[in-house]
Amino acid sequence: MRVPIVAANWKMHKTGAEAREYCRGFRALVPGDFPVELVIFPPFTALGAVREELEGTGIKWGAQNAHPEREGAFTGEVSLPMLREHGISYLIVGHSERRNIFGETDDFIARKLRAALDAGVSPILCVGEKLAERRAGRAREVVERQLAAALEGVRADEVGAIVIAYEPVWAIGTGVPARPEDAQEMAAFIRRWLADRFGGDAAAVRIQYGGSVKPDNAGAFLKLPDIDGALVGGASLDPDSFFAIAKAAVR
Ligand code: PGA
Repeated sequence: MRVPIVAANWKMHKTGAEAREYCRGFRALVPGDFPVELVIFPPFTALGAVREELEGTGIKWGAQNAHPEREGAFTGEVSLPMLREHGISYLIVGHSERRNIFGETDDFIARKLRAALDAGVSPILCVGEKLAERRAGRAREVVERQLAAALEGVRADEVGAIVIAYEPVWAIGTGVPARPEDAQEMAAFIRRWLADRFGGDAAAVRIQYGGSVKPDNAGAFLKLPDIDGALVGGASLDPDSFFAIAKAAVR
């Protein structure tokens, strides 16, 4: 039985003080036995504040990015051992903003994913097609290429630690989510692909939907048979809105 996982990707939002206020509000909403795994992804600079406010609550936190090397001459970058020191459980890998704005390649994404696994951090691997690719009937082909490249060196006994987020690029930050039937179809495709590649171990992999998830549409995605959670951007910036989405994941 896969435990649903709902994650807040704050992107470049919130100072440490704002993060602290959010976490105090959010943890007050979440009952101790809440049956959904919750993860918050603050900017690096707010990781310390988030950790202080969430440690011991059962709510987890992670990093939006990391460099695959442990250390070196990489001005401006942060490594997994440095982030581990801040108690992260998860790392977002392959987000479309990293791919498209910062030019990250499939190969670099694979190195990051490997570094996360080696550091004992669970990657949330984002995959998803652009609008033109969907219109051209190439959505599956694109997602399959992203999966194959990122997971190339992964062993079957490691795959259960990975979460896949299906995020169609055209749905991110636009207010226009995918149709639930299209999200389900792609999630089922991803699940079959994982089973072909990794066998029975793939059954543990959780698949999230992401892209304009809001409290009023979350239920339509979170009840789908192959969707085990959501990766939420804009609607995660307010604790009440994020918790409303998380509640829709309760089975
Ligand atoms: P959004 O972002 O919810 O604001 O569309 C989702 C994401 O980028 O993970």
